[in-house]
Amino acid sequence: MFRAKLIAVILLATMVLVACAPAAPAAPAATEAPAAKVYTYADMTVGFLQTGSEGGWRAANSQSFKETATQLGLNLKFYDSQNDLARQVAGFQQFIQDPEVDVIVMSPLEVTGWEQVLKDAQAAGKPVILSDRRIDGFEDLYVTFIGADFVEEGRKAGTEMCKMLEGSASKNVWELVGNVGAAPAIDRGTGFRETAEACGIKVVKSQTANWSVKEGKEVTEAWLKETKDVQGIFGQNDEMAFGAIEALKEAGLVPAVDVKLISVDATSGAFQAMLDGTLNVTVECNPLLAPQVYEAALAALNGESLPKWIPSQESVFFMDDPNLKDVAAGRKY
Ligand code: AHR
Repeated sequence: MFRAKLIAVILLATMVLVACAPAAPAAPAATEAPAAKVYTYADMTVGFLQTGSEGGWRAANSQSFKETATQLGLNLKFYDSQNDLARQVAGFQQFIQDPEVDVIVMSPLEVTGWEQVLKDAQAAGKPVILSDRRIDGFEDLYVTFIGADFVEEGRKAGTEMCKMLEGSASKNVWELVGNVGAAPAIDRGTGFRETAEACGIKVVKSQTANWSVKEGKEVTEAWLKETKDVQGIFGQNDEMAFGAIEALKEAGLVPAVDVKLISVDATSGAFQAMLDGTLNVTVECNPLLAPQVYEAALAALNGESLPKWIPSQESVFFMDDPNLKDVAAGRKY
């Protein structure tokens, strides 16, 4: 009996002790990952690798980046590659090392040569966005490409050259090409041949003139010394077409009449040439890419996924458009 009472007392005492014992400190709660920083334009630094300053289109493109950065209040580090690939790669490495730079934006001078720096940027956790020009492959190493369908620009030019040379006994066309290895130079040539050769056009001469008026003129002059049997000239940008116009005039030919001329870019200079009656058609390539690029940069920094290509919207403009004067007056570049 005594024994049972003793056990009961002990049990009771234990229960009281347990009840009164301070609660064991709760196992520390799993440390919640601190909320991811949500970037705004104000705390974003963009390192932009521009190709150089090779003409009206590039000037409008650079201005778009500088002006839009000011409007949005973001920090822009603008790097001029001076149309030198090695310099552009060095600038890329510089931005990888630069602790201030959050996102790297590049207008690649050429389609190849980017594997290592893209891998280094990824290892450094810096998103890369391609602006204006694509590269070959490595889609997994950059966030998105924002820019034109250069092949389609070439197709449009070929289609318009076909219309202008319809019924012409011979359809010999000369092509002034952009810098060797550049996406627009490769793709516009591909697109142009796709539609132009379908109507019997022959691209009988094709050579780089590096996007410049001067070289566009020199190359055309050299060709005119060989022959004047040309019905059309395709300038892969406005500046090279302007050079061809000067060479034709000096050779006693009437540009846009004796020889049809088509360019790509649709800068204000092209509108002036059309108003002067020396350029038949210009295919637009939109340089005002900065707002879309910065929007994508911020989205990438905040971990949002983006389509691999965000194409820009573009048109075609004609010398014989009755509203050309008004259209030209309304242009931003
Ligand atoms: O990448 C776009 C091209 O670059 C433009 O058509 C040309 O004018 C510029 O050099």
